[in-house]
Amino acid sequence: MVGPIGYWTELQAYQIGALLKLGLKPHHRLLDIGCGPLRGGLGFIDYLDAGNYAGIDLSEACIAEAHMQIAREGLASKNPFLAVSDSFGWKELNGRRFDYIWCSQLLYHLDEKQVDSLLQRASHFLAPRGRFYGDIIGYPNAVKEDSQWNGFRFYLHTVDVLKEIAARHLLDVTPKGQIEDYGYPSQIRLKTNALLECSRKEIQHELCQPVHSENPDGEPPFMPQCMQCGQQGPADGQSFLSRESGKAPGTRISI
Ligand SMILES: C[S@@+](CC[C@H](N)C(=O)[O-])C[C@H]1O[C@@H](n2cnc3c(N)ncnc32)[C@H](O)[C@@H]1O
Repeated sequence: MVGPIGYWTELQAYQIGALLKLGLKPHHRLLDIGCGPLRGGLGFIDYLDAGNYAGIDLSEACIAEAHMQIAREGLASKNPFLAVSDSFGWKELNGRRFDYIWCSQLLYHLDEKQVDSLLQRASHFLAPRGRFYGDIIGYPNAVKEDSQWNGFRFYLHTVDVLKEIAARHLLDVTPKGQIEDYGYPSQIRLKTNALLECSRKEIQHELCQPVHSENPDGEPPFMPQCMQCGQQGPADGQSFLSRESGKAPGTRISI
């Protein structure tokens, strides 16, 4: 149903192997966007603690097959969340946060507007130190011109275009090599796909007011606030500043 025929086991091993190499641990929460019939998903569900896997896909047939695979493999007790979604999980996942978002072999079937929408949603789903991984076509000749997969055409996005789109959603993009480096079968042309990591940009907040060392009037403790986004620092601004080596107000610091 998904991907090159005859490589189910190899492609399953690639997906779980890649995320293990990228630091996945059983307690992490993982969102698998475009999960298909769980070629990677079965390995993830088996490895993760119960309740930590969510998979979404546009295709009803894929999600129906995914449910059957879970029953067949005896993985129902792992309580995976599965949903058909045309909104990259936006309507279905209801404010959930994930440590990892895995988007294998999907970005190049989406046009730029859809990639923008996907990264906008991903930026909301990512936990503060969360990571998103997705692959794009590495070399244009890895796919035949005008070829399609299951009715989905191929888009040849560049890393620069991905960086530009990601920046709109305060995400940084870091190329992490080719998927072949993570165990993707060397017999398949897409082995040269580039794996990209997206993570939250580190925002340098700028404090708006001085922080007093004393609180003579018994007023509530002053809470430093960023001049740009209004985000507040810790309630105890004093210890916050001393942790930041007592920098003068107005200097750029991370909150
Ligand atoms: C090439 S398959 C990859 C499946 C799986 N990620 C893997 O690597 O084994 C692409 C999957 O993305 C799904 N898909 C395509 N467009 C989508 C969209 N807009 N939202 C969610 N899933 C989508 C397809 O139904 C298909 O299951």
